[in-house]
Amino acid sequence: MNAPTQRLAGKVALITGAARGQGRSHAVRLAAEGADIIAVDRCADIDSVNYPLATDDDLNETVKLVEASDRRILATRADVRDLDAMRAAVDAGVAELGGLDIVVANAGIAGYAPVLTLEADAWTDMIDVNLNGVFWTVKAALPHMLAGGRGGSIVLTSSAAGLRAMENSAHYVAAKHGLVGLMKALALELGRHRIRVNTVHPTTVNTAMVQNPMTRALFLPGHVDPPQERFAKVAQSLNVLPEPWAEPEDISAAVAFLCSDEARLVTGAAFPVDAGMSIRW
Ligand SMILES: NC(=O)c1ccc[n+]([C@@H]2O[C@H](COP(=O)([O-])OP(=O)(O)OC[C@H]3O[C@@H](n4cnc5c(N)ncnc54)[C@H](O)[C@@H]3O)[C@@H](O)[C@H]2O)c1
Repeated sequence: MNAPTQRLAGKVALITGAARGQGRSHAVRLAAEGADIIAVDRCADIDSVNYPLATDDDLNETVKLVEASDRRILATRADVRDLDAMRAAVDAGVAELGGLDIVVANAGIAGYAPVLTLEADAWTDMIDVNLNGVFWTVKAALPHMLAGGRGGSIVLTSSAAGLRAMENSAHYVAAKHGLVGLMKALALELGRHRIRVNTVHPTTVNTAMVQNPMTRALFLPGHVDPPQERFAKVAQSLNVLPEPWAEPEDISAAVAFLCSDEARLVTGAAFPVDAGMSIRW
């Protein structure tokens, strides 16, 4: 990547799920473009999710990487399902960093089961994290953005599965579609304050959410821990472009654009970064 420009100089960005994967990449990219970062992650597993979530060490690594860009970062362990904890994390970040201009509501979980065997706790956890948690994130952030009076940008991380359905993940599909409705409602209400709201819709992304034995086995039924190359072939068949998956940095480039003044007239948009997945599928 060429050295990014300083499109976000003087801004403060709240990023959830910032300990690893796309969230960490967003923190690093927005910091490289000049933003200070309020980072939030749960850093603990969730019982109904059968791959490990991030750890304290992961969040510490994000802090190091942002500080290497000479930007400030306040990192907090908090669960997006807990509005009080989110408010405390955001209030502390704003007090330390002096405002709030950008929200990237990225924290999320994945899970797979046919509807018939989809357990109630898996459904509830999915909607709580991937839909309610996004709303609580916005709710904790909004008073600060409005108080700043300088507009802003909110990006909600949906998925290609927020534009088209897929089998064996009704809870994920429902939550990610729900984010499109939430995004449009927020964009309508917040436009008069020059706060823009958009969703991003990634294809498969090369992160621990999919690069784990459970997810690979879903793409390749009958294999206990299918090798990466076979998984790559199946993943590529879902895309139009001849690529198996996006790297987190590909999604960060879109997020950085949506958060910059170059996107000053972009709001209410569902922005695919999906190698064409949503037109093929
Ligand atoms: N990886 C993919 O293929 C893919 C594709 C499309 C969309 N997405 C979406 O992108 C986003 C980022 O996922 P990723 O690929 O970086 O996966 P990831 O698992 O590496 O990152 C998700 C992060 O969210 C955190 N998190 C989970 N639940 C939380 C909670 N309740 N409170 C606070 N933090 C929590 C995790 O600890 C982790 O650090 C998610 O919303 C995901 O649904 C991922």
